[in-house]
Amino acid sequence: KIKACIFDLDGVIVDTAKFHYIAWKELADEMGFEFTVEDNERLKGVSRMTSLDILLSIGKVNKSEDEKLALATRKNENYLTYILKMGPEEILPGTKAFLDTLKEEGVRIALGSASKNAMTILERLKLTNYFEAIIDGTKVSKAKPDPEVFLKAAEALGVQPDNCVVFEDAEAGVEAALSGGMKCVGIGKADVLGKAHLIIDGLHQMNMQKLYALNEK
Ligand code: BG6
Ligand code: MG
Repeated sequence: KIKACIFDLDGVIVDTAKFHYIAWKELADEMGFEFTVEDNERLKGVSRMTSLDILLSIGKVNKSEDEKLALATRKNENYLTYILKMGPEEILPGTKAFLDTLKEEGVRIALGSASKNAMTILERLKLTNYFEAIIDGTKVSKAKPDPEVFLKAAEALGVQPDNCVVFEDAEAGVEAALSGGMKCVGIGKADVLGKAHLIIDGLHQMNMQKLYALNEK
């Protein structure tokens, strides 16, 4: 029986990929190589330092650990300038309605995100109060596809993993949910999220009937 929903943040509740892209591209421009929107797909769901490693591999650039830390810090400062301009109008369609329904139905709500900026983003969107537990990039040591982030969220809620449904837009996130023994709703395209129990375009397509139908999967 489904008792809790655990939401990824970036790409599920808000489209921050466009800001991550601008901020990473600025570094690529400085280093003199091309970084495309398609390349940016590879950074979804991936931690900040791993994203930087992927970016540098695309540009075939080598950097020392100190230089990498400096680059990641600069990227984040740039990214934050965009994040801090966001408001509730950036919440993806259907999110609030679905969260309200879950509350009414007594389904518990948690966040499971790789981002160290999750708290800042939730505050900007004025969504913090919906989440009973928030497990973000500051609280985990193993990145998705490791299930740590979702298992910690379930534990914080006191709900067994098989009573949880995870909402994810990244392949690594779907894998994390499944290896944690949870149900998973993929947000996006079937070619990327094929292993999810249900695939939808966005939370605007979600409802209690679809949620409880996952009990049978
Ligand atoms: C994930 C995003 O949610 O968070 C990734 O999908 C991002 O693209 C990662 O790299 C880490 O985010 P942050 O905010 O800690 O740099
Ligand atoms: Mg995501």
